[in-house]
Formats: sequence, C-alpha cells, structure tokens
Amino acid sequence: MEINHVTLIVDQLEKAAAFYEYEMGLVPVPAFVFDYPTAFFRITDTTQLHLSEWEDTRSFRGHLCLRVDDFSAMFWRFKAQGRIDTAPWGKVRRLPDGAMQAFIRDPAGNLLELTSYPDAPIDPKILEDELYQEGLYVSGRNDFRGYKAENATLYHPPGTE
Ligand SMILES: [Fe+2]
Repeated sequence: MEINHVTLIVDQLEKAAAFYEYEMGLVPVPAFVFDYPTAFFRITDTTQLHLSEWEDTRSFRGHLCLRVDDFSAMFWRFKAQGRIDTAPWGKVRRLPDGAMQAFIRDPAGNLLELTSYPDAPIDPKILEDELYQEGLYVSGRNDFRGYKAENATLYHPPGTE
C-alpha cells in the first residue's frame, strides 16, 4: 500500500494554488473536470497533492509533512512571512534521527510540517534562532501510550519495516 494523494481543503483555490506552486515549488498537473474548484499537484511519481475549495473546518494539529530539499531556505522565507506556527506542536526542532522539523500554515490555514533528510546540511544559524528549540516537543500530558522507541525515524531504509 502507498499514499496516492492527500486532499487539503482551502477557502480560496487560486490563493492556495499559488502558494503550493510558487512557495512550495510543486508542479501543477491536470485535475479531473469536477464541478467544483480543484487543483492537482505532483509530489512524486506516485503521489499528488489535491486542493479543493469548500467551506470546511481546518484541523489545528492534523498535518501533511513534506520532506523538502532546502529546509534552511524555506525556514528563513517562511519565518519572514510569519507562516511558522509554533502553537500546535512547539518550535522548530531537530528530531532524534537528525531530521529537521518545522510547522507552517498555508494560506487556507492548513498545517504543513516541513522536514529535511537527517543528514541534510542545515544553516547553523537556525539552531540559534528564537524559533528553534532543542529536544522533542513536550505537551505536558505525561501519557506515554503508543508505539514508541528511542531509535524511531521518519526515514526507513528501503525494504525494512
Ligand atoms: Fe508530523
């Protein structure tokens, strides 16, 4: 099984589409001729992002995570735009596997997580920035249920589980 596409609900299709094309760098691909506003973007050969304009409610913590090529450039650009949202999951961090993590809001209010490969070069100034914090996000809930391990990673070598 694999993810085919993710659909994000937006309030203004053109505004959101411009963000994903010009700020995130995704390439638009043809969408089916639906009778409502929608736009499709290529993420990889096998995954797409779909934007669809409806009057729905946006999730506060639910998010789509995109692994980006130049995390540092995006961090500085989205910080300047005021898009980094530390309210749901805390500040920008380096996860235990080495991957960077930042959360931003798209123009419709959808939460996006941006991450880097664990060994990707990162601008060291980010680690001194006011929006950066060391260590995993601590919610204060003190509830450790779940499938957790010290060697967790976002990046599994091909063929492993
Ligand atoms: Fe996440």
